[in-house]
Amino acid sequence: MNAKNTDFGTFAQDVMLGLNSTPKTLPSKYFYDAKGDKLFQQIMALPEYYLTRKEYEILESQHEQILAKILALGEPFNLVELGAGDGFKTKILLRYLVKEKVEFNYFPVDFSGSVLEELQQSLASELPELSVSPIQDTYRESLKKQEWEDGKPNLILFLGANLGNFGVKEAKNVIDHLRVGTKRGDMVLLGFDLKKHPQTILNAYNDKQGITREFNMNLLDRINRELDADFDRDSFMHWPTYNPVSGECRSYLVSLKPQQVTIGALNQNFEFEAFESIFTEISKKYSLTEIGSLASSGGFHVEENFLDSEEYFADVLWERV
Ligand code: AVJ
Repeated sequence: MNAKNTDFGTFAQDVMLGLNSTPKTLPSKYFYDAKGDKLFQQIMALPEYYLTRKEYEILESQHEQILAKILALGEPFNLVELGAGDGFKTKILLRYLVKEKVEFNYFPVDFSGSVLEELQQSLASELPELSVSPIQDTYRESLKKQEWEDGKPNLILFLGANLGNFGVKEAKNVIDHLRVGTKRGDMVLLGFDLKKHPQTILNAYNDKQGITREFNMNLLDRINRELDADFDRDSFMHWPTYNPVSGECRSYLVSLKPQQVTIGALNQNFEFEAFESIFTEISKKYSLTEIGSLASSGGFHVEENFLDSEEYFADVLWERV
């Protein structure tokens, strides 16, 4: 595994770009260091964070229908997963495919090296017969390189509402990368969090135990740790918002007072006015209509939408046309 995406240069550059922008912003992909991975695993177990449980329910109860189309080809295929994480949900599919003695290779892609290593270890002990080739990279870079491409059909998994971490324009760009990174007949299974009661959504990003707050704050801790900075986390506040029109759930860190922060590795001081914010994350919620137009404008045909019983979440199966 390589570490080129997590090395000093890129993180430092992105922090510099983001904090020199008006308004200030930091990319959410940097949430996921070893500590952030642990916090996200705690988030997935929170009572307010319905997303993981809803998607688990979909995969648990409908995995046969979801996989029927790729299995009907009756030939070996590649299962590529963008943002594999701890594989908690994907293991439902993996266990089923192994049980059915299906011939396939699994390519988990993740930006976090620590989570990939854990995934590889847990798969080696739980499903030793499985062929696993981890790829540490961003979604778009991995789709450009297509390290898995060997002429076999591909099923690309993009679960967990991970596409929601992109704004509308960027999400379209990621779909463009998906089209360029696949061939005619390849399938894609994407997870989308659906628009629902705004309070339900807001609560998922503002849990009572404050784990999501810690997750957001870890970005400041990480800058302190890795870039020799002196952010005082107590003078920042976690502030999630939900806009029911755009479906955008956005998280901010708000400076509670005027202050100056020094980032040693950048050799720069950053001024914060009182109540100035840093935009740290977008988690977009979709309607099925929006998802349908994403598919068609991106060059994909909607095969089927799989929803949980409360219609909170959708795993949608697209075919590359
Ligand atoms: C991993 C991107 C799906 O946006 O819901 C959880 C990350 N952020 N709580 C999401 C997250 C705050 C999560 N995704």
